[in-house]
Amino acid sequence: MHLELREIHKHFGSVAANDGISMTIEAGELRGLLGENGAGKSTLMKALSGFIEADSGDVVLDGETLTLASPRDAIAAGIGMLHQDPLVFLPFSVIDNFVLGAPGGATLDRGAAAAALAELSERFGFSFDPDAPVRTLTVGERQQLEIIRLLWLGARVLILDEPTTGISALQRDQLFDTLKTLAAEGMIVIFVSHKLEEVQQLCDRVTVMRRGRLVGAAELPCPPEHLVEMMFGKAVTPSDRADASIGAEGLAINGVTLSDRLLTTANLSLSVAAGEVVGLAGLEGSGQRLLLRALAGLHRPDSGSIEVGGTAMEGLGYRRHLDAGIHFLPAGRLEEGLVSGLTITEHFLLAGRRMDFFIDWDTARSRAAAFIDEFSIRGIPESTAEGLSGGNQQRLLLAMMPPGLRLLLMEHPTRGLDIESADWVWTRILERRAEGTSIVFASADLDELLRYSDRIMVFFSGRVIRVLDARHADGEMLGHLIGGREVA
Ligand SMILES: Nc1ncnc2c1ncn2[C@@H]1O[C@H](COP(=O)(O)OP(=O)(O)OP(=O)(O)O)[C@@H](O)[C@H]1O
Ligand SMILES: [Mg+2]
Repeated sequence: MHLELREIHKHFGSVAANDGISMTIEAGELRGLLGENGAGKSTLMKALSGFIEADSGDVVLDGETLTLASPRDAIAAGIGMLHQDPLVFLPFSVIDNFVLGAPGGATLDRGAAAAALAELSERFGFSFDPDAPVRTLTVGERQQLEIIRLLWLGARVLILDEPTTGISALQRDQLFDTLKTLAAEGMIVIFVSHKLEEVQQLCDRVTVMRRGRLVGAAELPCPPEHLVEMMFGKAVTPSDRADASIGAEGLAINGVTLSDRLLTTANLSLSVAAGEVVGLAGLEGSGQRLLLRALAGLHRPDSGSIEVGGTAMEGLGYRRHLDAGIHFLPAGRLEEGLVSGLTITEHFLLAGRRMDFFIDWDTARSRAAAFIDEFSIRGIPESTAEGLSGGNQQRLLLAMMPPGLRLLLMEHPTRGLDIESADWVWTRILERRAEGTSIVFASADLDELLRYSDRIMVFFSGRVIRVLDARHADGEMLGHLIGGREVA
């Protein structure tokens, strides 16, 4: 097998997301695709898997030029893509999701499908109850299901776009083993990521993109500085963290109990000083999400008290929380933070909260342009939120943050961001700390928790099992605690 991309071009308005990309990949290769936020990686992979149509260029597989007008065309040609959030239908069962998109539709032999599911699961050491609803599976298991579904549909080229966000270390190792097996059997695997260590660990070769073009390739492993320089055109060293002086109590949580359908977190107490950063660690669904939403005024506690700057907040609505100087940056940038279809200018108008009767569009546009400049957002005032890459969406959210906050709440503030953007984001966040804002953030990234927190609150299935001083913690210890193991 021999896969060739020839001169792929894709423009979005004036943005050249792919500006003439050519590359070849041979059977059995595990190819990494690296690049800064907005480099054009997802665009290229979507064009290859039929999710979008390139403006021009060819995809040639084993000498045959493919027509890729839809994902169905692509999978018929043997190309399948796993998206960052696997496209599964949550209320349906495992087996219903598995047969999705299979040729045959209603005449499909479900018995044969179930047998194929069992056989493929067995081969890779996965275990599925065919009748379980998919919503009961973890993100890692949904991914496993999606991989064997694509294999069953005949994928010979498997594309994974940032597959390791939101899965556990164990699931990642299992995923990597599966991908290595597939490549050893002669498949092509393309692995898109920002995480240099993962690409080094998994791939044989890497291709690097920057601003819509290919800027380099390397055999792996190679020195990481070499990859960083190709990605950013320069070396990137994370800025040193300046110590802020910790002030009076900014946030007091006393005996708070929170519950939703899935979880109860009982008797949480913590005092956070002005200018202090507290990281929330734990597996997804251990209670961090619930606590952040309660602090933001989006979830009402069952009992207990929450005070911000000495004012009792529990039971007050979201609006009152905003007025009290509490700001929340949620993980789902497009679901909860930004509005699809609205432009950057319109976002700033809404964030301003000062609604004049007439909108002065010229002023609004030039204000948006100034923010775009200040926050280095790659876009124009007329760009819509969904057209920005992940890193640029996060920059827009930060640019919209009002000044003088008492409490800043964040969920996975740098998920999906490259190291340069992540460093930039934290520099802006820590400026707030110096102004006396208390900061509480949840993250799945242990390095981020250790690097930026003053203290780390570790959750395990609804309980806080430890509050650590981040200066005396390390990754191994934190990993054990998150997994529910006691450490001395
Ligand atoms: N649907 C769209 N509409 C408008 N512009 C888009 C659209 N999709 C992508 N772009 C633009 O194309 C460029 C490349 O985006 P792409 O999503 O391919 O980058 P990426 O390398 O995958 O970035 P990230 O690492 O942040 O996921 C970006 O500037 C982005 O704003
Ligand atoms: Mg992408």
